[in-house]
Amino acid sequence: MVVRPIFSFFCISIVVLSLLRMSGATDIMSSVQSIRKGETLVSSGRKFELGFFSTGSSNNSFLGIWLVASPETVVWVANRNSALTDSKGTLEISYEGELVLLNQSKSVVWSTNSTKVLGNPVAHLLDSGNLVLRERNSLDSTDYSWQSFDYPSDTILVGMTLGWNFRTGLEHYLTSWRSVDDPSLGDYTGKYKIDGLPQLEIVRNGSVKVYRSAPWNGVYINDVAEVSTPVARSIFVHNETAAYFAIETLIDDITIRITLSPDGVAQAFLLKSGSTKWDMIQSLPYDPCDNYGYCGANGVCRVNQSPRCLCLQGFIPKSQAEWDMLNPARGCIRKVPLNCSRGEGFMRLSQVKLPDLIDFQLFKNMSLKECKVECLKNCSCMAYANSDIRGPGCLLCFGNLIDIRDINDDGSHQYLFLRLPASELDSSRSLSNKLVTITVASAISGLLIGGTALSIIWKRRMKSQGLPSGMDGIDLPLYDFDTVSVASNHFSQTNKLGEGGFGSVYKGTLSTGQEVAIKRLSKYSGQGPDEFMNEVLLIARLQHRNLVGLVGCCIEGDERMLIYEYMPNKSLDYFLFDHDRSSSLAWKRRFDIVLGIARGLLYLHQDSKLQVIHRDLKTSNILLDADINPKISDFGLARIFRGDDTEAQTRRIVGTYGYMSPEYAFDGKFSVKSDVFGFGVLLLEIISSKRNRGFQHPDHHHNLLGHAWLLWREGRAMELIDESVCASFVESQAERCIQVGLLCVQKFPENRPAMSSVVFMLANEGATLPPPKEPGFFVERSSGSLDAHLVREEPFTANVVMVTLPEGR
Ligand SMILES: *[C@@H]1O[C@H](CO)[C@@H](O)[C@H](O)[C@H]1NC(C)=O
Ligand SMILES: *[C@@H]1O[C@H](CO)[C@@H](O)[C@H](O)[C@H]1NC(C)=O
Ligand SMILES: *[C@@H]1O[C@H](CO)[C@@H](O)[C@H](O)[C@H]1NC(C)=O
Ligand SMILES: *[C@@H]1O[C@H](CO)[C@@H](O)[C@H](O)[C@H]1NC(C)=O
Ligand SMILES: *[C@@H]1O[C@H](CO)[C@@H](O)[C@H](O)[C@H]1NC(C)=O
Ligand SMILES: *[C@@H]1O[C@H](CO)[C@@H](O)[C@H](O)[C@H]1NC(C)=O
Ligand SMILES: *[C@@H]1O[C@H](CO)[C@@H](O)[C@H](O)[C@H]1NC(C)=O
Ligand SMILES: *[C@@H]1O[C@H](CO)[C@@H](O)[C@H](O)[C@H]1NC(C)=O
Repeated sequence: MVVRPIFSFFCISIVVLSLLRMSGATDIMSSVQSIRKGETLVSSGRKFELGFFSTGSSNNSFLGIWLVASPETVVWVANRNSALTDSKGTLEISYEGELVLLNQSKSVVWSTNSTKVLGNPVAHLLDSGNLVLRERNSLDSTDYSWQSFDYPSDTILVGMTLGWNFRTGLEHYLTSWRSVDDPSLGDYTGKYKIDGLPQLEIVRNGSVKVYRSAPWNGVYINDVAEVSTPVARSIFVHNETAAYFAIETLIDDITIRITLSPDGVAQAFLLKSGSTKWDMIQSLPYDPCDNYGYCGANGVCRVNQSPRCLCLQGFIPKSQAEWDMLNPARGCIRKVPLNCSRGEGFMRLSQVKLPDLIDFQLFKNMSLKECKVECLKNCSCMAYANSDIRGPGCLLCFGNLIDIRDINDDGSHQYLFLRLPASELDSSRSLSNKLVTITVASAISGLLIGGTALSIIWKRRMKSQGLPSGMDGIDLPLYDFDTVSVASNHFSQTNKLGEGGFGSVYKGTLSTGQEVAIKRLSKYSGQGPDEFMNEVLLIARLQHRNLVGLVGCCIEGDERMLIYEYMPNKSLDYFLFDHDRSSSLAWKRRFDIVLGIARGLLYLHQDSKLQVIHRDLKTSNILLDADINPKISDFGLARIFRGDDTEAQTRRIVGTYGYMSPEYAFDGKFSVKSDVFGFGVLLLEIISSKRNRGFQHPDHHHNLLGHAWLLWREGRAMELIDESVCASFVESQAERCIQVGLLCVQKFPENRPAMSSVVFMLANEGATLPPPKEPGFFVERSSGSLDAHLVREEPFTANVVMVTLPEGR
């Protein structure tokens, strides 16, 4: 039932459903009642709902809490690591007064673990989203024997806390979902660490830090929040009973949540009353410098500077060669080792995030003067800082200084005093000033470049207006030609992976060992370096699990290259159109591939900030990662080659016959609906393992679309499915796929569904689908006109066409 991301179409239909179901809805379950699939508790203000849900295409079901206004937003899951394998679970209250989740054979798969025995227990879903177990007639409204807020999943809501409750001894922290449609425990945790100075941390696999916030400075945590905003604010509590971070809203009709995504990004979202669409208001890590230890030990990351990484004063790169290759992770070492000799002193750095608290000492009531003396006493003390901007407090840092970056935090008066030998101190006064100038300058230039300025503000505030944040911090490593050339073995034929409409692709290995695919663009884009870089930065911002990620780019002379992550499993055509390999693609896998492509395309069309039309969807542009997840490649390239995307007509047709919609192939008109056409062709190819182009049938001379249409009309559509998946396929899914495929390839663009409907129709068992009309190229092909066109323009074997249509067409 639950599908992410959000589709407004979907939300509306569900809201209507839950309204109908609402009669008899209650927020309390007593010990003689139970909840099964389809039955729910709804909080009194109708904000939250508790019940069973399933995700993706699996049959597993989970007990969870979601928002009535946004049912795909599951905020809490009970049985995360013990999914019910069917939909026949029951939630009830046991004789012991615990909430228990039973499977079909009445075994307990999940249970609460309360500290108190209740006489007459009830489960109550509160309007805050908290599920509590309490005495039926309890007058004390906070006297719960158990509450879901004590066991957060991946989300905190208003009223929840991230951190420690010393009374109960419980730590509240977030654990990501395994994937967007798998609520089981994922790789990432988000915690409020309180050893030393409190700070937020996101950790992968329990040990690898991927992000940490600045430490608590006595008043706030720079990354997380400033003091207050019109609608929401963050709260920090540190006293004898608790130490935590929380959020609160200052007006009633908004909902706010912070969710740790399956890929380890903590994102704050805001939902206005009456709306079903969440606005992202903050995202951490936010920019490259937020990645933990980005510049290595003793390096400073400066987000808007080039080079981004700098060694601290008195330090030099550990490996100059790697540093020059923009690979700073090995960090910096002291030019001259400290030895407690005479003349050692300190240089003051302002507007920096203090280094991570790895080897440190904290003296809560020591003044800055005493702090300095304390540091000088110990030869391994590298730096000190004022730990509390309100007064005394001394932080001593030993060993390497890790994860320092520039921040825009003029108000705080928190400083890092870096220890230097006498020889470095002479030059340090001027340098100290320089570092300050750099920071100020970058802040000012940031203000000039609108997006960057916003990023700084976002870092520090929960903004009142739910502006979608995008990824304004993105910028992309620039590789020089020689580096790329060496990586690809001088663009040798053996490294060549393929050739497409926009240029050739080579496999390469960077000096870091990372494998990449290098796309060397053909030379007719005609863009200058700045214009090209702008476009590439736009493309780099498009980030989705079903899009191939951009690793870097190269601009030198006439050369324009894009460097992508390498996909070990080649492309879809490699599997699909080979008899042996295609039989390794079982039905479920094919269905997941179809859904993945649909989601990627939906993101390009609708969910990303720029609306991107792909214009060259085809099986060879669908790459497969190590787990056979589909990733769309070559997206956004049409922008580079055309410049202005708003123009709906183009003289040069970039595309591949067999996938091009009629209006595009003949008139050069394109729109998102042309991509929908291409997607329909892809879909039909995926389930039939046959190419549209070059399809042959003894009984007629239609292409694959025509063939599918004829079978559909005769009620024999299932014959389209590749025989090799017959053993594994799910008939209802297959039927839906064929129908959706035919809807997408309808002749007239206005009849084709938008990608949001496509995703909805594919993912929802119960969706009603309209009957398709005749596909594009049905008549044309049989009359032979398109064939004639094809033969004239290109030899049949060529995959890609570049046609210049006559003026005035
Ligand atoms: C889901 O349930 C249906 C019907 O019970 C079954 O045919 C199908 O194989 C199940 N799918 C999975 C992925 O287990
Ligand atoms: C119920 O759970 C028990 C214990 O986990 C398991 O052995 C049993 O197979 C499950 N029954 C069903 C129908 O899933
Ligand atoms: C229940 O809580 C007790 C202490 O609070 C703990 O020792 C025990 O492991 C918990 N059991 C489960 C199943 O969580
Ligand atoms: C660590 O995380 C990665 C993915 O981030 C995962 O593939 C790997 O199995 C994890 N390793 C361990 C030991 O959990
Ligand atoms: C700790 O702070 C919380 C939140 O402000 C407050 O409710 C609680 O009473 C405080 N505890 C003590 C011992 O001050
Ligand atoms: C300490 O280092 C300085 C150089 O910074 C050097 O001149 C001096 O001899 C060293 N002293 C000792 C005791 O090693
Ligand atoms: C620091 O605090 C301790 C008690 O917490 C007190 O004994 C000591 O005198 C204080 N030192 C200073 C310099 O204020
Ligand atoms: C210096 O500090 C380190 C780290 O805290 C500590 O292990 C060492 O004993 C200290 N040395 C002296 C002489 O105080």
